[in-house]
Amino acid sequence: MSPAAGGRILETTSFILKQPIVIAIDGTSASGKSTNSKRVAKALGYVYVDTGAMYRTLAWYCLKHKVDVQDARAVAAACRRWKPDLCCVEEDGLRRVRLLVDSYFPEKEIRTPETAAAVSHVATVSKVRDWMKRTQRDCIQFGDLVMEGRDIGTNVFPETDFKFYLDAHLEERTKRRTADGVNENLAARDQRDSQRATAPLMIALGAKVINNSSLTSDQTSELLLSEIRLRLGGA
Ligand code: DC
Repeated sequence: MSPAAGGRILETTSFILKQPIVIAIDGTSASGKSTNSKRVAKALGYVYVDTGAMYRTLAWYCLKHKVDVQDARAVAAACRRWKPDLCCVEEDGLRRVRLLVDSYFPEKEIRTPETAAAVSHVATVSKVRDWMKRTQRDCIQFGDLVMEGRDIGTNVFPETDFKFYLDAHLEERTKRRTADGVNENLAARDQRDSQRATAPLMIALGAKVINNSSLTSDQTSELLLSEIRLRLGGA
């Protein structure tokens, strides 16, 4: 019936529930994930999530509480015990997620060689990976995300249409780490990350692979941003 014929148009409000966008940036160690993820997050105004830092924070917590990180059951028990708060903080114009542990944001402590050595063990424990996946998915409460890690496109947010995999030749990555003052056997770390039983590092289906061996950071982030904008335009 038309309004002219006396019909009543019922006003309807249609709510379009916008799903937060998640940009997954996975890749090998020292492939430029952190620098480029932060740049992309800043440029788009998205929240940055460093999932490696979350694993490192648990590794630091274990060391602090004298948990044997090579004992998977002890690490799983520690993961059940700890009750960090998931927080979104603003630092230097970047909104980012951090874990608040006993009213403290550990930062320097999670970058020490001891924590770096412990985190490879902690990250293989399947109960830990379950906890991390749940908590990382909870980050969408803060809005659109740029999340960097090893298993974001394959395991944490496999449904996202924005998957990237960064890589560079081993020599180039080793050079970058050395320039940062870190002496690390990256080949061994790559092997541990890609050969663990749960959620190993691998290229997600549909991920755009960017080998940035001969690219500057600016070029890499421009490449990421132009691809993301293209896909956002079509979203
Ligand atoms: O990116 P990073 O070096 O801070 O990561 C620390 C460790 O955590 C590294 O050994 C790989 C592991 N990790 C992981 O297994 N899965 C993730 N999503 C992120 C990091």
